[in-house]
Amino acid sequence: MLQGKKIVLGITGSIAAYKTAYLIRALIKKGAEVQIVITPAGKEFITPITLSALTSKPVISEFFSNRDGTWNSHVDLGLWADVMVIAPATASTIGKMANGVADNMLVTTYLSMKAPVFVAPAMDLDMFAHPATQKNLEILRSYGNHIIEPAEGELASHLVGKGRMEEPDKIVELLERFFAPSGLLAKKKVLITAGPTYEKIDPVRFIGNYSSGKMGFALAEACASCGAEVTLIAGPVSLSTHHPGIQRINVESAEEMYKASLKVFPEMDAAILCAAVADYRPSQRAMEKIKRETMETMTLQLVPNKDIAASLGAIKHPHQILAGFALETTDEQLHAAAKLKKKNLDFIVLNSLNDRGAGFGYDTNKITILTRHGESTVYPLKSKREVAYDIVTKLAEYL
Ligand code: CTP
Repeated sequence: MLQGKKIVLGITGSIAAYKTAYLIRALIKKGAEVQIVITPAGKEFITPITLSALTSKPVISEFFSNRDGTWNSHVDLGLWADVMVIAPATASTIGKMANGVADNMLVTTYLSMKAPVFVAPAMDLDMFAHPATQKNLEILRSYGNHIIEPAEGELASHLVGKGRMEEPDKIVELLERFFAPSGLLAKKKVLITAGPTYEKIDPVRFIGNYSSGKMGFALAEACASCGAEVTLIAGPVSLSTHHPGIQRINVESAEEMYKASLKVFPEMDAAILCAAVADYRPSQRAMEKIKRETMETMTLQLVPNKDIAASLGAIKHPHQILAGFALETTDEQLHAAAKLKKKNLDFIVLNSLNDRGAGFGYDTNKITILTRHGESTVYPLKSKREVAYDIVTKLAEYL
């Protein structure tokens, strides 16, 4: 996928700069052409000699060449590249990019870039978690830049947490996916349900669950970048969608999600039901806030919600593909296989709460896909974005 691709690799002043030597080698091995643009601080961490030897190109750092005064045109670089990758990206560079502070060659090149941009942050965990950094990353996302989430682990400070630049082989994998034929789901319409549902008790209280919606949103993005027209029916989550191929419908309760899903399903080629739908709701909803003084103890009577997956399974046409999720804690395969059959699914994605890094709130997931034909494929722990592509690949096989 990277054969002949022209990559501008921006390097900034982080200890993770040493990893770029491996990244360059891997990219060149895949047939890519790499042009380095490095900040003055970046050169303190890895030498231009190493970089030019690896890329067989002069390293660009200044606006003018110190040797002969030639102007290094950031505009030309912006037109030349098929993709720009900024790895490692420090908090400072991310801040400058978000705010258009063009005081070095790297940020200037970024601002002139016509190609898609990938940003791989690398910093201390507290710097990464700081609202200023998160806000700047959100701004970059809103510009359509792809943020390569840092990994968790031991940092240069010896603290352990999220902030390590993603490993070079992962970055290469991501770029390969990005350049993979985007027509995998071309002209297909896919419905995705995501997030939790809230079942109201009174105007201020509800029954909910811990679902963050991250897996469903990653799936929506993955399907859309493979060419699908996605309808994303989302419960209450604090996530945003960026892809123009995603049409989002926000709902709150299981009943609302059920109605919205049933309405759109007949036009769909496939549905992936990723939402953690509440199985029950209060039989009555108080119109006014329930006051503590009014009752000594409180008993809530719950009634079952409709099963969206089973309802779609009951009406689906043979050409429509239906996939569900199962989050289990015991006898995982057995329960998942039973759900697959009961809900008339084509395949089910099982994640076990017993696997580290899988389940609610994590950025990673570990899945097993069981199919109606009795096949079972176990996948290693991956980022939710990568897991989404594994699921999309399975869906494409069925479609
Ligand atoms: N699902 C749904 N509507 C519901 C409940 C579940 O569409 N009312 C879907 C989920 O989105 C998921 C699959 O069914 O794709 C399995 O969900 P899960 O909660 O694991 O299954 P349940 O049938 O609710 O079984 P249980 O909670 O007893 O394990």
